[in-house]
Amino acid sequence: MCGIIAAVSSEEEVAPLLLEGLKREEYRGYDSAGVALLDGRGSIAVKKDVGMVRELEARHGVSKLKGQAGIAHTRWATHGGVSRENAHPQVSCDGEVAIVHNGIVENYVALKKALEAKGHVFVSETDSEVIAHLVEEGYEKEGDPVAAALAAANLMRGQYAFVALFSDRPRLLVGARYDAPLVVGLGERTRFLASDVLAFLAETDKAVFLDNKEVVELTPESLRVFNLKGREMSPKTRKETHVAWELGSLSKANYAHYTLKEIHEQPATVQAALAQDPEKVGEAAERITRARSVVLTAAGSSYHAALLMKLRLALEAKMRCEVVLSGEFERELPFIDEGTLLVAMSQSGETADVLEAVKMARRKKVGGVLSMVNAAGSSLVRQSDQSLLLNCGPEVGVAATKSFTAQVMVGNLMIDRVTGRESVGDPRRLGQLVERALESEPLMRELARRYSGRPDFYFIARGGHYPVAQEGALKLKELSYIHAEGMPASELKHGTLALIEEGTPVVVVAPNGPGYDDTISNAQELAARGAEIIGIAQKPHPVFKHTVAIPASNGTVAPVLEVVPLQLLAYFMATERRNDPDHPRNLAKSVTVK
Ligand code: G6P
Repeated sequence: MCGIIAAVSSEEEVAPLLLEGLKREEYRGYDSAGVALLDGRGSIAVKKDVGMVRELEARHGVSKLKGQAGIAHTRWATHGGVSRENAHPQVSCDGEVAIVHNGIVENYVALKKALEAKGHVFVSETDSEVIAHLVEEGYEKEGDPVAAALAAANLMRGQYAFVALFSDRPRLLVGARYDAPLVVGLGERTRFLASDVLAFLAETDKAVFLDNKEVVELTPESLRVFNLKGREMSPKTRKETHVAWELGSLSKANYAHYTLKEIHEQPATVQAALAQDPEKVGEAAERITRARSVVLTAAGSSYHAALLMKLRLALEAKMRCEVVLSGEFERELPFIDEGTLLVAMSQSGETADVLEAVKMARRKKVGGVLSMVNAAGSSLVRQSDQSLLLNCGPEVGVAATKSFTAQVMVGNLMIDRVTGRESVGDPRRLGQLVERALESEPLMRELARRYSGRPDFYFIARGGHYPVAQEGALKLKELSYIHAEGMPASELKHGTLALIEEGTPVVVVAPNGPGYDDTISNAQELAARGAEIIGIAQKPHPVFKHTVAIPASNGTVAPVLEVVPLQLLAYFMATERRNDPDHPRNLAKSVTVK
């Protein structure tokens, strides 16, 4: 989704920093990009275009633009098609104010009408353009950038983060956030406002996370924060955070894509996920044990990790437990009260639906919010009573890989504490098992070659392995654009069997243990109707056309080992089909709008 990076400096030219920041935010998903630079003579130069950041640079040479203050943006179209006019920055009528925006201004139609009645002329179809005009209005009236941003913010409904640049204020940025992320970066000579710390991490690891509903005034020397009523917040409330993510892990190393690199990082990241402060895990377990019921909420891959947690909580801890997709959270509301613990899971901590679910639960006086998040300092962390971090480093590939396995392991660690069971074992041993699961790579490449032309793929499994089938199907859809479904093996006869044709590939997750025989019977039924069975199992079986061998393990670690080959399969299917696995079409890493 849209990414913002803005910079203001006492002595540096900021264009190259903005360009670098835009590249670092590319993973969020976008279709156009742009920058606005304020030069020493007080005029704002805007360069924007449809396409990739490198195309913006090639066509407009943005890195050579002069200016010590500037704003930049990657746009993921919501309101208005993909066009140069709709790309950001958006500029006010008089060209004195330029803004970049992430989010949706829900009442933009009414605001636009009112502004047009006052003589404002709009050039784009975006909701964002109203912000430029609102800030312009406010600035004319109040003569003060912060007052202008506040006036605009108080008129807007929806969710937003925006940053404004004023042509007559050469060393100033003003930003605001409401349910969308905006982080301050404090470099020695240059300061930043960005959607994501990754955007400025090459320059500084000192960040200040703004709270929701705040307006910020940033110069190379000062940082002032106001609430939406215009009251200045005490600097004591602004703690500088040292961002621990190593920049080294932001490079692709020797891998062709981030996605492949991140898949390969998993032997290390599952171990890092387990390196939790035992006291914090104990505290989280305590919250679970104390709760009358637990509701887990998440989206995408995080939802599948939540499904795995639910199974253990229900079967082993015998807890009343529900998993609700965050976008469907409303249906759970009647059952939420002070006896409920909400467990929110999210890699980014910025998924709009997840944050909205937390908000709804708070309104129902939920007993507590525990989250599992990768991005420290994210909105979800700030809105939780307690968070456990996934510690898996920045995940750049749009499709979640290492964050999923980290979630599974942090969940296991916590539930082990609840149940008193020691299922996780030695982290190093787990790392070795994941290494072995990665040995499936040549076979997955070969299978991708063989099946990349097929229109449909099915994934089946039972019990605690069913979420793995769902995750395998999701990865395949995201990366290869092939229709895929993950389903309980038991449901086959209720529809899916009708879809099986000669040669239809079906991935059957069939590890040793309960349900094995039944799953194999289902595989036989599929094979009898022409399906080609790819077995994810500890041992070959005559019904498997291909066996993807996974190491033996106890049940709680098995999903991690089973999903690794499926991630590889999806990755190679994408490269076979000449898709860009790091930037799947139409998808975004951080879904910050509902
Ligand atoms: C998007 C990403 C997925 C991710 C999902 C949830 O759809 O492309 O990879 O699983 O959002 O994101 P979250 O950051 O909340 O885990």
